[in-house]
Amino acid sequence: MKIAVYPGSFDPITNGHVYIARRAAAIFDKVIVSVLLNGQKNSSAFTVEERCEMAREALSGIKNIEIDSFNGLLVDYVRQVNARVIIRGLRAMSDFEYEFQMALMNRQLAPEIETFFIVTDPKYSYVSSSSIREIFSFGGTVQNVVPPDVFKKLLERYQGKSRKS
Ligand code: PNS
Repeated sequence: MKIAVYPGSFDPITNGHVYIARRAAAIFDKVIVSVLLNGQKNSSAFTVEERCEMAREALSGIKNIEIDSFNGLLVDYVRQVNARVIIRGLRAMSDFEYEFQMALMNRQLAPEIETFFIVTDPKYSYVSSSSIREIFSFGGTVQNVVPPDVFKKLLERYQGKSRKS
C-alpha cells in the first residue's frame, strides 16, 4: 500500500490545501493529512483538535484520506506510519526555496523518504492560512478560499474582537 503524508500547520485548512489533498488521494492508496502539534509558529489561531476537526470535515468525502496530528520530526512520524512519501503543495516560485531546503533536509535525515510536490490550481495561488487569519482578525471576510465549515469557525473565532458586525 502506497501511503503518503501531507503535513502542515493547517491553521486553518484552506481550499488550496483541499485541492492538494484531493490530487494526492487520486495517486496514493492512502493520504494522511497530518497537523503539526507544536510548531515554531506560536501564534496558532486554532487548537490542534480544532484544526483536525476542520480538516476532517473538509475532506470527509474522500475515502482514502485520514486526518492525524504529529509532534517532533516529520520524518520520524512518516516512518512511524509506514509512509514513504511527503506531499507538499507549491503555489509560486516564492514557496520553492523554502520547500526545496526542507525536502533536502528531510532527505538528509531519511534518504528513503521522497518529497512529492503538487502544484496548486492558479485560483488558489494567492491563498494562505496566515493571510486569511489576518483578514478575519481585522474584521474582513473572503469568500471561496476556505471550506464552508472553516468560514463559519473563522467568523465565530473573530466575532467580537475587531469585527463590527
Ligand atoms: O504548513 P506549514 O507550516 O508550511 O508546514 C510546515 C511543516 C509542518 C511541514 C514543517 O514545519 C515540519 O515538518 N515541521 C516538523 C519538524 C521537522 O521535521 N522539521 C524539519 C523539517 S526541515
